[in-house]
Amino acid sequence: MEAVAVLKQAFVKTFGHADGLTVVRAPGRVNLIGEHTDYNGGFVFPMAIEFDMVLAARKRTDQVVKIHSIDYGSTVEFTLDCPITYDTKELWSNYLRGVLWAMQGAGAHLGGMEIAFLGTIPQGSGLSSSAALEVATAVAVRHLTDFNISQPDLALLCQKAENEFVGMKCGIMDQFISMLGEEGHALLVDCRTLDYEPIPIDLGGYQILICHSGVKHSLVDSAYNQRRQECETGVRILAAHFPAVQALRDANLEMLAACAAALPPVIYKRCHHVITENERVLKSTKALKAGDLVGFGQFLNQSHDSLRDDYEVSCSEVDLLVDLARKVNGVLGARITGGGFGGCTVNLIKGEAVEEFLAQVIPAYQKETGIKAQVYTSKAASGAEIL
Ligand code: GLA
Repeated sequence: MEAVAVLKQAFVKTFGHADGLTVVRAPGRVNLIGEHTDYNGGFVFPMAIEFDMVLAARKRTDQVVKIHSIDYGSTVEFTLDCPITYDTKELWSNYLRGVLWAMQGAGAHLGGMEIAFLGTIPQGSGLSSSAALEVATAVAVRHLTDFNISQPDLALLCQKAENEFVGMKCGIMDQFISMLGEEGHALLVDCRTLDYEPIPIDLGGYQILICHSGVKHSLVDSAYNQRRQECETGVRILAAHFPAVQALRDANLEMLAACAAALPPVIYKRCHHVITENERVLKSTKALKAGDLVGFGQFLNQSHDSLRDDYEVSCSEVDLLVDLARKVNGVLGARITGGGFGGCTVNLIKGEAVEEFLAQVIPAYQKETGIKAQVYTSKAASGAEIL
């Protein structure tokens, strides 16, 4: 059954009837290039995918909030008469609680509501199911409360929910693309100004293939937060020599070379990744716009190598998937996508080569790791919308 039909059915079962519902969908994302650049004020190039969160919500006349997760088969309930607090048992609910908390803090007049939701984004894949849930919640609540706020500002509130309420210090990329994605396009986003340019994903006989390693290493959040701190350390050292450097976005390879002696080796490598990755985003999107898919694929490969060697956020399983993919005739580029330490690869592949990918990569990966990798294809989807 279609996700929205399942959603409505579950809503009726949980809350009695389906009158007065606002139904929203918000997509997951795959980042094509520009990894760990968002929180350094840099550039990213994600596209929204056809996997999403669907959420139904309606107002109540009191201050009680009831939220039902169809995937977890569980319901939480709290009252807005008290401050919204973190739930240590039903952890999934914190993404919604956090958004309500952030919107309330920004001046939205919340009242009681009933919410149910369901996801089609593969669990633990790193395709941003949490950002999609935050964005779906935010769009529904904005509608129910008539809160006047722009799309980018609402995406920022979702990021704030994740940073300050959930405790994951993510950048703005995932919430931004889930909110503002455009069908048939990926967005080149300047994460400092939040200016963005939709670029057509016009790949001729090629397509984007997502491959899930089936691995999610623990400590992802702490390793992620640690990378952020290492970047901040890099900025402090670079700024001592070059005061104009306020974020790694402002640095270049000449500055890095000039500060090499002052930078601990690990910090040097982290900065090297971010500086070169920002350049790759700009060069690769230029190549894509010029129809140079071979060039675009090469930048994807370089991005992976830099994430593996300089930023050290890959892992042996994902490296294996990437190496196997690159051996397939018709794969122009393969790299890890998202935060890292497992999750998915993104591959630029010729349509006719997909069969070979499935016949070569998946069995070889399973032989080595014992894991059956999952493969997904998606066109570039639109951002969040009220259905
Ligand atoms: C996660 C974060 C994003 C971004 C990526 C890495 O997906 O949520 O903000 O930092 O990792 O590019």
